[in-house]
Amino acid sequence: MVTKAPAEIQSAPSPWYNSGVTRVLMISPEAAPLAKTGGLADVVGALPAALREFGCETAVVIPRYGSIPLKDARRVYDHLPVYLGKAGFDIAIYQAPAEYPLYLVECPRLFDRPGLYGEAGVDYPDNDVRFAVFARAALGVARHLFRPGILHCHDWQAGLVPAYLRTTLAGDPTFMGVKKLFTIHNLGYQGLFPASALQEAALDETIFNPGGLEFFGQVSYIKGGISFADALSTVSPTYAREIQTPEYGCGLDGALRTRAAMLTGILNGADYREWSPENDPLIPAPYSAQDLSGKRIAKQQLLAELGFPAEAIDRPLLGMVSRFTQQKGVDILAEVAGEIIAEDVYLVALGSGEPEYEESFRAMAERFPGRVAVRIGFDNRLSHLIEAGADLFLMPSRYEPCGLSQIYSLRYGTVPVVRATGGLDDTIDEGTGFKFQEYSGAALLGAVRAAIQAFSNRDEWHARMLRGMQKDFSWKASAQEYAALYGRLLGRA
Ligand code: ADP
Ligand code: GLC
Repeated sequence: MVTKAPAEIQSAPSPWYNSGVTRVLMISPEAAPLAKTGGLADVVGALPAALREFGCETAVVIPRYGSIPLKDARRVYDHLPVYLGKAGFDIAIYQAPAEYPLYLVECPRLFDRPGLYGEAGVDYPDNDVRFAVFARAALGVARHLFRPGILHCHDWQAGLVPAYLRTTLAGDPTFMGVKKLFTIHNLGYQGLFPASALQEAALDETIFNPGGLEFFGQVSYIKGGISFADALSTVSPTYAREIQTPEYGCGLDGALRTRAAMLTGILNGADYREWSPENDPLIPAPYSAQDLSGKRIAKQQLLAELGFPAEAIDRPLLGMVSRFTQQKGVDILAEVAGEIIAEDVYLVALGSGEPEYEESFRAMAERFPGRVAVRIGFDNRLSHLIEAGADLFLMPSRYEPCGLSQIYSLRYGTVPVVRATGGLDDTIDEGTGFKFQEYSGAALLGAVRAAIQAFSNRDEWHARMLRGMQKDFSWKASAQEYAALYGRLLGRA
């Protein structure tokens, strides 16, 4: 049984808050490799190590989902009680092996389930309670295991942290002077619940108003972050501007404009330890800008796995790896799939998500057998093989806060075709990829045709691949910006 704080905290020789070190606790629903549905996991998995260089000691707390094995984890705290009104939850905290302290909130009744947020496209009905308990348990980690100067909260699942600190826990000496940064990775996911969530999550009714948690009569967890954090950030400069407009604001543009002075856009980085063709164990042969022969081997293997003919090696192979949701442009792709295939090209798509879009991809594969291959599911190995084996990478997103896959594609010499929105616009230029503006099948088709045309000129194509491979989106620059923002919040700059 472990109920005491570990020695590191009990006997801290000099107070960390005087040491010049910034202690950051990231509160996130995902962290790669343990819990991942999308790019948020990649960000939280990589940023802590990158922050070290800039004087930050970072820990991360995520829920212990059913898919996370506990066999290698250490139980570091027993019986952390969380009460939401009368409902009590007995929590244990585990620490998983990672290059930074990675805490897991163990509450089997809430989190030991097959999905992270739901199953078969349907959200768990008690997500309000799950992420209220998670927020409170994460604050327990901050109290007992890792005392931070900064609480860095990610997405709606951590949105109640600033809300509880403003209400239920206001005046608690543990959190005096602790600053809250809330990062929006995707405004399309807001954690909206019926007003009854107020009681279920034991939220103070005084903040149920439009300047607090209320969103048109519902409880909005993302507004907990937007209204009550000390600073807001999102994951690209362009998205930071876009979300303040009605077109991209998902109904929150007004609230965001009110807080515009504390909203910044910091571009995500890529973890090149995971995503480099020079040393990627998930592809058949390494390759680099100096020697691209391994890329051809990856394409051969991919074509064979997908059941495409060997002659396809000389034709463009278009790849897509994505959550299949309305964000990702599946509808405009389906609209022009016939015209694209008529260009004598091949298409592979890997992803999962909303049944409607999965179905749309299945229908494409049935309509164009031998030309379109679709794999429904989450498959890390195949995602790397597609990054390496494809010639073009499609991201026709309706909106894209940052997007990581296009950044990985650049490094693998796989030329991105993207809609000019959010981080796609910030990371891809005319020299490295193909961009289109209007959200329409016609505009996407125009960009794909331009890319296919360019592919036929081998020298030009090769030069374009190399320009992309030489781009550097490593975490260093972004980590420096986060560290500077933490410093400003703590009044150090
Ligand atoms: P988002 O976070 O909106 O899903 P990003 O481009 O930021 O978009 O990040 C997507 C990440 O998730 C990438 O690492 C990508 O490889 C991965 N990914 C998405 N879908 C799948 C899938 N079906 N199988 C494996 N990896 C996937
Ligand atoms: C979100 C966004 C994506 C971004 C990722 C990580 O899921 O959709 O654009 O790259 O978060 O910040």
